[in-house]
Amino acid sequence: MKKLQWGMIGGGEGSQIGPAHRLGAGLDGLFEFSAAALDHRPEAGRQYGQQLGLAADRSYGDWREMLAGESAREDRIQLVTVATPNSTHFEITKAFLEAGFHVLCEKPMTMTVDEGEQIVRAAEQNQRICAVNYGYSGYSLVRHMRAMIARGDLGRIRLVNAEFAHGHHADAADADNPRVRWRYDPAQAGVSAQFADCGIHALHMASFVTGEEVTRLSADTVSCIASRELEDDAMVNFRMSGGTVGRLWTSSIAIGRQHGLGIQVFGEKGGLRWSQEHPNQLYWMPLNERLQIIERGEANLSPEADRTTRVTIGHAEGMPLAFANIYKDLAEAIRASNEGRAIDPAADLYPRAADGLRSMAAVVAVAESGAAEGQWVDARPPMFR
Ligand code: NAI
Repeated sequence: MKKLQWGMIGGGEGSQIGPAHRLGAGLDGLFEFSAAALDHRPEAGRQYGQQLGLAADRSYGDWREMLAGESAREDRIQLVTVATPNSTHFEITKAFLEAGFHVLCEKPMTMTVDEGEQIVRAAEQNQRICAVNYGYSGYSLVRHMRAMIARGDLGRIRLVNAEFAHGHHADAADADNPRVRWRYDPAQAGVSAQFADCGIHALHMASFVTGEEVTRLSADTVSCIASRELEDDAMVNFRMSGGTVGRLWTSSIAIGRQHGLGIQVFGEKGGLRWSQEHPNQLYWMPLNERLQIIERGEANLSPEADRTTRVTIGHAEGMPLAFANIYKDLAEAIRASNEGRAIDPAADLYPRAADGLRSMAAVVAVAESGAAEGQWVDARPPMFR
């Protein structure tokens, strides 16, 4: 089977997220890294691309050059990943969709709800895939949670409790460091800092595993470091389309926490608990029975979990492999679209532009509710009301 050609914008040398994408896309032999504009400094981007094995004429200096160059080729890339800073996602993603490329955009997909709606429309009108990298939804046991909930193992879902806490911006002495300060500056970061950066992963996961959308919310947002204009901690109560009650905590001042994304779901017949730092175990507590620990890779899991595991049980699989699962889904979606056939349902789980838009609406709702002392507000984008 011929590999699909894949390109990348952003993710240059020393970037945080670039290597995880290259590992993820390359892992299963489904994509070939063929073109890129990796850096905001054209020459550095060209050089690094070639160092990673790109042909000189496809290691571009900037994304517009790449769009023109790839559009003109017979063997153009079929998927492009946008892993640049947030404020550039909208312009780049829209331009590539309109030129007929499938896109995987980093989160947050856009800076405003209106831009998010434009991306959803651009994907629909051009009949292109626009995925958003809620990469943690690719973990095998997160997929299994979703499958257990969908097949009714927990009964009706009552409560979901999600969190994403870290302590990397807790040092008040470091608050003025330019690498930290911009994140809490509305002119650069938009209406929200910590919720837009991390909270949306937890909120997306709540929707992903329950299969329900967030409808309304009430937020308590605070800047624990007083010089910050935007929040470094938020507690959000929310309600979901199927009646599930939601609780979410996100923080960047939680000293000692590293990448504390976790989720608990409680239904009428049992509870589930999973955490990103220990992704190979899922805690399952059926009502009135003993705690069971489900291991990634064990026998008799769901097809969704089986499809997204590679290494035998007992060996840790981590974050780049979760990203690889998003790429595996996308390869199946692109091939199904090219061949005019139905997509394998166990693969049809990658986060969509609609999810990116719903997150943006939630970000705006959190900022609005936080400013109004926790007043309950509609969390849905106007397009989906
Ligand atoms: P970073 O600052 O570490 O790296 C950004 C890279 O993009 C750099 O190589 C820079 O030179 C390049 N770049 C900037 N402007 C560009 C342009 N106009 N054209 C081409 N390249 C350009 O940023 P980081 O942390 O890697 O974040 C990038 C994006 O990924 C952000 O949107 C962030 O929210 C998201 N992210 C997502 C994560 C996830 O779990 N899904 C985790 C971490 C980041």
